[in-house]
Amino acid sequence: MQLERILQKHGFGTRKGCRALVRHERVAVNGEMCDDPFADIDTDGLVLTVDGVDWPYLEQATLMLNKPAGYECSRKPQHHLGVLELIPPQLRERGVQPIGRLDEDTTGLLLITDDGQLNHILSSGKRKVPKVYLATTKHPVDQAQIDQLLAGVLLNDEPEPIAAAAAEIADECLIRLTLTEGKYHQVKRMVAAVGNRVEALHRESIGSLSVPADLKPGQWRWLTAAELEQLVNSA
Ligand code: URA
Repeated sequence: MQLERILQKHGFGTRKGCRALVRHERVAVNGEMCDDPFADIDTDGLVLTVDGVDWPYLEQATLMLNKPAGYECSRKPQHHLGVLELIPPQLRERGVQPIGRLDEDTTGLLLITDDGQLNHILSSGKRKVPKVYLATTKHPVDQAQIDQLLAGVLLNDEPEPIAAAAAEIADECLIRLTLTEGKYHQVKRMVAAVGNRVEALHRESIGSLSVPADLKPGQWRWLTAAELEQLVNSA
């Protein structure tokens, strides 16, 4: 594929802009400077370096973000910055979107992709991908609350009670809760339904994926091919 086309596909702007990047010697192909925007490049295992930053060639871009509090997941954020402000503009240019949503004050694992099919698979209610949350509560958690969460609670606008796939007391005011749906404010509403209140919420994992210990709040990284495969298989 022509170098300018690869750059454009990876969010580096218009074809004209991409040609200029190459001609100004700002692009290396597998570590070798290339000043020909029309060079025909083998994309297999390709790594481009633009202004010193490495970009693996990816047909689809899928990444994980350790979401900090204070960022909105909506397409048109209204009161805070959007989560997409935390990733490079080239990725926004590719049209990536969060898979599902976390509330503005929720922290933890958020997946972001430009792969519409993956987004659909993971956010479709039919696929029961477990998501594990740590909810800090206002009042101490007791076993009766846990039992109710496991048995199912009735939420407004829901015809049937919804049960947690797993729930446990993680600390005096901390519940670890596994859900397989992704309903609006689901954790907060379920915890409220058992007479407690969520004061802080963190998503630890989605399917087989957890927030890596070295991924600080606000940081992102690509998903590896193995992680992607495991994730899809868990859906
Ligand atoms: N449940 C909530 O209440 N909020 C989130 O952000 C995610 C799940």
